[in-house]
Amino acid sequence: MTSGTQESSDFPPGFLWGAATAAYQIEGSANADGRTPSIWDTFSHTPGKTLGGDTGDVAVDHYRRRAEDVELMSELGLGAYRFSVSWPRVQPTGRGPAVQRGLDFYRSLVDDLLDHDIKPVLTLYHWDLPQELEDAGGWPVRGTAERFAEYAALVGEALGDRVEMWATLNEPWCSAFLGYGSGVHAPGRTDPVAALRAAHHLNLGHGLATQALRSVLPARAQIGISLNPAAVRAHSDDPADLDARRRIDALANRVFSGPILQGAYPEDLLADTARLTDWSFVQDGDTATAHQPLDFLGINYYQPTVVAAPAPGAGKVKGADGHGASDHSPWPAAEDIVFHPAPGERTAMGWSVDPSGLHDLLLRYSEEAPGVPLYITENGVAYDDKPGPDGTVHDPDRIRYLHGHLGAIRQAVADGADVRGYFQWSLMDNFEWSYGYSKRFGMVYIDYETLERTPKSSAAWYAQVAAANQLPPAP
Ligand code: FCB
Repeated sequence: MTSGTQESSDFPPGFLWGAATAAYQIEGSANADGRTPSIWDTFSHTPGKTLGGDTGDVAVDHYRRRAEDVELMSELGLGAYRFSVSWPRVQPTGRGPAVQRGLDFYRSLVDDLLDHDIKPVLTLYHWDLPQELEDAGGWPVRGTAERFAEYAALVGEALGDRVEMWATLNEPWCSAFLGYGSGVHAPGRTDPVAALRAAHHLNLGHGLATQALRSVLPARAQIGISLNPAAVRAHSDDPADLDARRRIDALANRVFSGPILQGAYPEDLLADTARLTDWSFVQDGDTATAHQPLDFLGINYYQPTVVAAPAPGAGKVKGADGHGASDHSPWPAAEDIVFHPAPGERTAMGWSVDPSGLHDLLLRYSEEAPGVPLYITENGVAYDDKPGPDGTVHDPDRIRYLHGHLGAIRQAVADGADVRGYFQWSLMDNFEWSYGYSKRFGMVYIDYETLERTPKSSAAWYAQVAAANQLPPAP
């Protein structure tokens, strides 16, 4: 602590206060300016895959309302904005040269942000793989990692003069295990080995893309990744429950942090999954490639995970792990592990409210990635927000949720974690993947008939917190 006057409720000087979104969840204009389908276009247009058949065709029309949305961010006092680039908008087939009109959109967005003193934080991949690359095998094949690095270089060359913070992937766990394991996310495959192969090629893609970015970006660029580590807890101290915890920790966390932070897959993960695969898709040098120096680590956190010893049929309790109902488990070779609902109040997603999981993760990754600054690149909550008779939207539950989680971050900082910023998920209500538009995570309410934007009362609360850089008293 450099300032002797810093109060215990203060956040570190220069702490970044932001909000996050993702391209497919907000942009719409799915066929505009040369964009081609991503796996999420295909998936959402497949009957039965999303609630109510909702798609991102229009989403919240951000592609056309970009300037207005940046004005809104400025009115909300945001210091930073985390967005993702739609791969099929800038490189429609996933190969070859970039489409200028696609790049122009992101260039205009970044210019608008900089004009309003909002720091752009760019994610290259938030789940919208060009469909042509899925048709060529998707993340389970090596070529996708190589294509990803080429795409990273194109975006880096186009925006490297004005974007300083770059994340390669958002939540590769979801891409691999929900996309190819349980199939509740695009592309909807249900093959445990494909999920493990996807995890590996996402790790490799992260490493190759980081190298590609370093070769085109100025030295000041900060390159990292956003993971969604599970705060895994054992249901009891029984050794069998503790072993379930170890196994889920391997499949949720160490399958990524192993190669990315240490340069190797954990031995226990390889042993646990040996009946499915010998991991021969990992070539010599791959884990060293995945292990690139990181300028920051992004942590996305929503709720803790509680597990217990395997029980016959446990995997048939659909969605017990909080990741969506499916006949197929997202946990390769750990299908029978029992997931218990975490204690505590529930959100509209049915997720439990427990800020201590965030505190635990920040301290854990401070140790596992010493010297690497941490950012919370996503945290937030869905409630069934509705406008009152006067049109205003009051969301006191969200304020309480945020207060609790910001308190956990403040405590993690006091306990030694180097946390540099917080991005609320989300700037505005949007397409919540397989839940369609039914779940509202925004600090801004969207009327889906008119697409009118109305800041919720939590937005004003958040603006005050950001301006004071201090945790206010509990609401
Ligand atoms: C995360 C995703 C984000 C959003 C939130 C609620 O897993 O990264 O796009 O859907 O969950």
